Amino acid sequence: MKHNDAIYVAGHNGLVGSAIVRQLTAGGFNNVVTSDRRACDLTDQAAVNAWFDQHEIDYVFLAAARVGGIHANNTYRAEFIQQNLAIQTNVIHAAYQHEVKRLLFLGSSCIYPRDCPQPMREEHLLTGPLEPTNEPYAIAKIAGLKMVQAYNAQYHTQYLSLMPTNLYGVNDNFDLNTSHVIPALIRKITEAKNSGSDKVLLWGTGRPRREFLLVDDLADACIFCLQQEHRYDVVNVGSGEEVTIKELAELIASVVGFTGKITFDSSMPDGTPRKLLDSSRIREMGWQPKTSLAQGIRATYTWYLDKGSEKVA
Ligand SMILES: NC(=O)c1ccc[n+]([C@@H]2O[C@H](COP(=O)([O-])OP(=O)(O)OC[C@H]3O[C@@H](n4cnc5c(N)ncnc54)[C@H](OP(=O)(O)O)[C@@H]3O)[C@@H](O)[C@H]2O)c1
Repeated sequence: MKHNDAIYVAGHNGLVGSAIVRQLTAGGFNNVVTSDRRACDLTDQAAVNAWFDQHEIDYVFLAAARVGGIHANNTYRAEFIQQNLAIQTNVIHAAYQHEVKRLLFLGSSCIYPRDCPQPMREEHLLTGPLEPTNEPYAIAKIAGLKMVQAYNAQYHTQYLSLMPTNLYGVNDNFDLNTSHVIPALIRKITEAKNSGSDKVLLWGTGRPRREFLLVDDLADACIFCLQQEHRYDVVNVGSGEEVTIKELAELIASVVGFTGKITFDSSMPDGTPRKLLDSSRIREMGWQPKTSLAQGIRATYTWYLDKGSEKVA
């Protein structure tokens, strides 16, 4: 990838897309192209084709998707499958027709079976039933990565699907109705501290183990992979750093400066006990994350105090 190549980041306002734009800009790439939903609705095939006709694009990072937590995934099942299939099909096919050099498609660890052996390897794909609550979303993502594989096989393209673990960081969603665990804990614990409360009550037992990756590290991995010689169609990307939800809450409390008691409501569901990606493929390619969980939480908390809390006020 040369510094003046035209690099399209689809979904540049989102958590992942905005991090990719930041990393590209910091890396001296000076021709980053974006378009928001009003300029080009990616579910509209004619609009996507017209957009690619008007822009000579060399590389594509496909980080646009209909994304949400368990509740949204389970409630808007039709929208999640239809919009994701449409966005990825339109962009991948237009990229092929317009002879884009390389494309990176963002998948998700929910593509792996619900009872997948841990840590989850790329080979575990399609070896068992999916988690029912987000099955429509996962099926769309699986179709996306199969499309990437099929285009590589038939058209000799060099496209790649990256499967990230749970992400967090700048531009995260702090709305408690739809947020993921790290922004939710940052918000709840900050609000407990600010209200002078001596305790905070969190959902579940605190025992499930999870892996998290700072979104800037993911963006670094995306740019790294697209510059490597093509070897794999599907690559997991995780930090390898596992924590229990209780340990995570304690870490966040120490960053926030909350000294009260953290208690757990074990009548609320925990989800799966352990979810860890096997990232040996990307490690073997020569990439590893730069940021520890503690450093990443501190950076995210600083951003939340500065900007994130305004977004949810
Ligand atoms: N967040 C995570 O923990 C996580 C973990 C693993 C994988 N991923 C993957 O990473 C990718 C990006 O996720 P994210 O967390 O960055 O999501 P996000 O913050 O919701 O961003 C998604 C972006 O897609 C854009 N978009 C959605 N529908 C569109 C449409 N019809 N036309 C044009 N743009 C559209 C949105 O635009 P608007 O701003 O206009 O809505 C938004 O900028 C997804 O494929 C997801 O599966 C995320």
